[in-house]
Formats: sequence, C-alpha cells, structure tokens
Amino acid sequence: MGTLNHLLNNNRKWASDRIEQQKDFFKRLENIQSPQYLWIGCSDSRVPANEIVALDPGELFVHRNVANVVVHTDLNCLSVIQYAVEVLKVKHIMVVGHYGCGGVRAALLKQRFGLIDNWLRHIQDIHQRYQSIVESAGSVEKQVDRLCELNVIEQTLNVCETTIIQDAWGRGESLDVHGWIYGLNDGIIRDLNITMNSADDMAAIYQHAVTGITK
Ligand code: CO
Repeated sequence: MGTLNHLLNNNRKWASDRIEQQKDFFKRLENIQSPQYLWIGCSDSRVPANEIVALDPGELFVHRNVANVVVHTDLNCLSVIQYAVEVLKVKHIMVVGHYGCGGVRAALLKQRFGLIDNWLRHIQDIHQRYQSIVESAGSVEKQVDRLCELNVIEQTLNVCETTIIQDAWGRGESLDVHGWIYGLNDGIIRDLNITMNSADDMAAIYQHAVTGITK
C-alpha cells in the first residue's frame, strides 16, 4: 500500500518553518479567523488561491469547484457565501477564473466526461447566449479563453444576485464583488472590470464588462 509519508513530512517541515519565522503563528490562528476576502475559484491544481495573492492562513476564505461556477441551487457554494458574508463579515468576494480552463474547454467543445457534463452545462448556457462573441475570438484556444472571461462575468453577476448579497447591500454593508481571471502562462491576475458594490447599476456594469472583453 502506498503511503503519503512524504506529504506528512513536508507538513512537519512547513509547520516548524512557520514557527521559526513567527513563534505564535499557529497560536494566533487557533481560536479566531477574520479573513477580509472570499475567493470563489476553479479547483484546477495550477491556481492555488492563497499562494498567488501571497496571503497567509487566516486571510482568505476559499470555495473552489470545477470552472468556478455559482449556481443558485448549490447549497454548498451558497453556504460558503452566507457564512463568509454574515458571520465572518468579509469585505470582498472575488470570482477567479483562469485562462485555458479544462472545464470551460469541455463545455465549449461539448466533450463528454460523465456526471460533470451536467455541471458544465451551465457554461454551455453562457456559450449559447454569447455564441457570436465567442466565435469572433478566433482560434479554438482563443475561444476557450473568451468563454473563460464570460464565465467569470456571469458567475460574478450570479454572486451579486443571491439573496445573501442583496440583503447585505440592503443593510448598507460595505461589500465589493469582483471578477478576476488568472493567466496560467504568466501568473498574472487580470481584473475584468465587473466590480459591484450595490444593487444599483448591476445590469449596466455587467453589460460594460461583456463589451469590454472584446476590445
Ligand atoms: Co479551471
């Protein structure tokens, strides 16, 4: 039977390194977490949330699923958002997609992998809505990337439309929702200019972001 001792050994070394840098590092985090940010990203192993924005344990609340999809009936994702907003009181939510996303590619090319095809159906809906914008991107890879951008914009709007965010804004809370996309080839995050912080102008900001990606 294979063991994962190498990972457990890595962990011991990581923990002792952290204590060496800061003696009370774990003690400080033991009883409280107060992150300012909720990250909703793709499960892709090449997009490690904390690492690419250089945040420590305790600083980023994270939800990841295949292709960073936010569906209004997904109790898992909604529970994360509700807890983050109402209990942890995060100030920012970022939906973070990435170029070259395998889930988005499978949706675009209508590849079949099994159960997951139903999950990715949500992205096919976006593709259908924006078929001409996607096609005008050019090569298949460029079309994948454009659909990745549209997916972020759509999922960011989905976050804003939840009762959780609408209620938070209704209470006058300061809460910004952002749409970002990460480049696997250069490690850089780009802002897709769909930041929303109130129930006003949502449609205009959304439309502006969709137009913006074709420029
Ligand atoms: Co992905």
